[in-house]
Amino acid sequence: MSTQDVIQMEHDYVLGVYSRPEFVLDHGQGCTLYDTDGKAYLDCVSGIAVNSLGYNDPQINQVMQDAMHKGVLHVSNLYHTAPHAQLAKALCETCFADKVHFCLSGADANEGAFKFARRHAYDKGNKEKYHILAFTNAFHGRLFGSLAATPRPKYQEAFLPLMPGVRFAEFNNLESARAQMDDNVCAILVEPIQGEGGIYPAAPEFLQGLRDLADEFDALLIYDEVQCGMGRTGSMWGYQTLGADNADAIAPDIMTTAKPLANGLPIGAIMMRQKVADSIHKGDHASTFAGNPFTTAVATHVVGRISDPDFLSDVSAKGDYLMEMLDELNSPHIKEVRGKGLLVGVEMDVEVGPVVDAAYKKGVILVSAGANVLRFVPPLVISKDELAHAVNVVGEILQDM
Ligand SMILES: Cc1ncc(COP(=O)(O)O)c(C=O)c1O
Repeated sequence: MSTQDVIQMEHDYVLGVYSRPEFVLDHGQGCTLYDTDGKAYLDCVSGIAVNSLGYNDPQINQVMQDAMHKGVLHVSNLYHTAPHAQLAKALCETCFADKVHFCLSGADANEGAFKFARRHAYDKGNKEKYHILAFTNAFHGRLFGSLAATPRPKYQEAFLPLMPGVRFAEFNNLESARAQMDDNVCAILVEPIQGEGGIYPAAPEFLQGLRDLADEFDALLIYDEVQCGMGRTGSMWGYQTLGADNADAIAPDIMTTAKPLANGLPIGAIMMRQKVADSIHKGDHASTFAGNPFTTAVATHVVGRISDPDFLSDVSAKGDYLMEMLDELNSPHIKEVRGKGLLVGVEMDVEVGPVVDAAYKKGVILVSAGANVLRFVPPLVISKDELAHAVNVVGEILQDM
């Protein structure tokens, strides 16, 4: 099928909720994607922070083949399977968590977290203790609960009413958070590094303050690490990068992950402390597909690779290099370069849509995070040379603007 035939067929049959560029991606190798005309694109988006180990990775291919040869992709959550248990153990070994529940996406993980937080509060005897405190500029997903915690009129307006019981404070403003707290709050929900909102890291003192507030008001602290977690910032989890040597002090009670967990296969996970797990009972939550043996086998492999300290310090070094290269562009259009590891935002004084379009033409895939922020979320296996190439392309584009 020709490129134009595919684009026409999509136009005819696929719901038009996305704008897509005028090429059709076909295959990939390492950090490069190829379209149906054979044109190569250096991928600095990785399917929006998903394909951390890149494309056509031989080890992942092997794990998938082994899992496939067992002939069982899915059995439902009615039965035990080894990869499901192994993935849960592997995740718990990377952080504060004692128990894991699997789901299908980032929004799904956050909504499960809301349910678990409400369930945990339910037994405390205060029937009003169901409120969730979220923050300005956050993005937690597009379902009715996660969208309620995503304060963007453009996304919310036509779909009201959303899940009730969500209140907001200003991100990185502890006084604002305190002003919203009372005994009716069951959970504080925050992205340690806001992704879609434009790559804004939380100040470590802000996370420490939220940790203390949650304890003071007997609420749970939930970190949404759907975008910033799983090695992206140079530690296994974003809060570990922000908390540095004292990360345990700011560790949450629940943490959600999804995007990169199985390098492209759909899966999410809700990780929690034992005290949360103790308040969830059989039948409180469920999902048909979640945590199937095929996807969890791949995810267990991904967690093992990414949590390797050498892998993580390499991500950290490449992130520093990327930020330095971007700073050295010295472009008058660049207002700020910010982020951690390979989650980097470049705030510009112009809309970045045309920069993204021009980069496609030059064979580099980039994405925006809001109108004025260009986002780099490449596969974590990208090389310094590839990063340098992508930055040079951005430099050329900005020179012409
Ligand atoms: C921080 C964060 N939470 C939740 C989501 C929603 O994830 P999904 O699109 O898998 O539902 C996203 C997606 O971009 C995200 O960045």
